[in-house]
Amino acid sequence: MADLIASEKIDEIRRSVDIVDVVGEYVQLTKKGRNYFGLCPFHGENTPSFSVSTDKQIYNCFGCHAAGDAFSFLMDIEGYSFQEAAVELAEKGNVKLDIEAPAAAAAKSMSPDFQQMVEAHQLLSKFYHHLLVNTKDGQHALEYLLNRGFTRESIDKFQIGYSLNSWDFVYKFLTKRKFPEGLMERAGLIIKREKDGTYFDRFRDRIMFPINDRNGNTIAFSGRALGDDDPKYLNSPETPIFNKSKILYNFQSARAHMKKMQRAVLFEGFADVIAADRAGVENGVATMGTSLTDEHIALLKKQVQSITVCYDSDNAGKEAAFRASTMLSDAGFQIRVAMMPDGLDPDDYIQANGAEKFRNEVIDGSLTLMAFKILYLRRGKRLQDEGDRLLYIEEVLKEIAKLDKAVEKDLYIRQLAEEFSVSLDALKEQLEGMETKHSSSKSQKEHAGRSNSPMMMNPPAASTSKIRPAFHTAERNLISHMMKDADIAYKVQSLLGENTFNIDEHQAIFTYLLGYFESGHPPDTSAFIHFINDDKLRKICAEIALVTINDEVSEQELSDYIKQVLNYQKMLKIKEKKAEAKEAERQKDYVKAALISMEIIQLQKSL
Ligand code: UTP
Ligand code: MN
Repeated sequence: MADLIASEKIDEIRRSVDIVDVVGEYVQLTKKGRNYFGLCPFHGENTPSFSVSTDKQIYNCFGCHAAGDAFSFLMDIEGYSFQEAAVELAEKGNVKLDIEAPAAAAAKSMSPDFQQMVEAHQLLSKFYHHLLVNTKDGQHALEYLLNRGFTRESIDKFQIGYSLNSWDFVYKFLTKRKFPEGLMERAGLIIKREKDGTYFDRFRDRIMFPINDRNGNTIAFSGRALGDDDPKYLNSPETPIFNKSKILYNFQSARAHMKKMQRAVLFEGFADVIAADRAGVENGVATMGTSLTDEHIALLKKQVQSITVCYDSDNAGKEAAFRASTMLSDAGFQIRVAMMPDGLDPDDYIQANGAEKFRNEVIDGSLTLMAFKILYLRRGKRLQDEGDRLLYIEEVLKEIAKLDKAVEKDLYIRQLAEEFSVSLDALKEQLEGMETKHSSSKSQKEHAGRSNSPMMMNPPAASTSKIRPAFHTAERNLISHMMKDADIAYKVQSLLGENTFNIDEHQAIFTYLLGYFESGHPPDTSAFIHFINDDKLRKICAEIALVTINDEVSEQELSDYIKQVLNYQKMLKIKEKKAEAKEAERQKDYVKAALISMEIIQLQKSL
């Protein structure tokens, strides 16, 4: 993480804000004792297991193990980079930053030209909305929307508007407000006539959908024709502020819901996003009429691990769903695919069947990726025909070979055997041949998926086991005391001597901690957690810091902890020696065996 902001500034920012205020904007917190509690925003829950400590300026969830400081909280919940989080916190704490602010403050840090482009969009978006809901000119458009099932509430929420049936209304509106015409042309709002260099409005007599970036700034529009005009949706062109392959419709509003549900729903069209939102599915986003790109995937990756693909249930939609879900699954997401009766899109379905049915039957009743593929691969095949049938079985087997879990494989292969009355053994044999081919490419993919996993979301293995061996707890208690007192850290260093902690992560934290103190930092849990340049370690640290231990630690306690740490190593050594002794006996080298036994006794005595 390249820190463009000086570390003193970071410290200043940290001191200037209270994590309770930062978290409090997203979570309703109640004070209990010295800590605050609330419902965890990172996973769905009904009883609060999310706690925020004012003393330590960190948060921790006992349910999903999310943990960190104010910076990581914003990074996690908003999908911000570190820089973006720093800018936002600086603003909150009134700390002046003299660096170029990154995207979180995008509008403020943009070049003046870009800023004006965004401003024009914001202004027009308000104006279009006003025309739709308050004026006679927009009345027919409003009626069209209401007839289609849009509610006033969602018209307001999505700032839907109407562009007048005029060639130059927007042109005049913008130039009167001193927006340069060349710039507005580059922003895609007006178009230059080749013959005489005059300008006309791009959007005329259309329902206007503002498209926002992830900070909520309007950066483009899509205008839907009221009748059968072509194109049905007219979009802003690619401009310096609008790049289709990076934008997901509704991303900004859906973000908090995605986090909460730990799932996003991906739609094909924004009419679907809006209808679903109205139906209570608020974690929905859509691409801008383009197919899914790697940039979209990276954007989603920062928010969730599970995605429901809910595309149109016509042929094109199913094909697109197959492509998108395969791409997403390869990127490491857990995928479900929602299906509707033939030909319908989510918006049609909701209109015809209502919100509840949509939630229960389409979204909650979505298929696993494999079940979807089994259906999908049937398309266009005549299964009574032997050639088609064999092709189908082969294609399904190929998909089964990609599954991770043996139980799942078994389930689907049995289904296949039963449906087509083929021998289970034959299918298994064929599957085995495919698996060896598949496995090498899969392990690479898995690796890529893991390294992309969002920060702080995967609990480290060490923290998941509830019952920990004594040395494990001892190491954690030592770290906890060392974080509070540099002298204790140095003492532990000398007591350990050549030895290290048994858990690699603990040793890494210890090394960081010594580095932290040596560079002159005073003890400060939250500052230290920030100092560590590794998400997994940060998380462990936050967990350790939140376990309450006595502030005072006696010499005796310290040496007991150290003893437990070292004993474990000795026990490992003893195990090793015992194996060696056995081997020596097997080789009838009784002298060697006796020598080793003496070593073992020495080791046991020292425990
Ligand atoms: P659809 O044709 O499925 O439209 O296009 P829809 O979402 O059902 O819209 P309604 O219900 O007819 O109003 C899906 C998406 O493809 C893009 C848009 O982003 C749309 O949301 N699209 C479609 C275009 O960009 N241009 C078009 O002319 C049509
Ligand atoms: Mn539709």
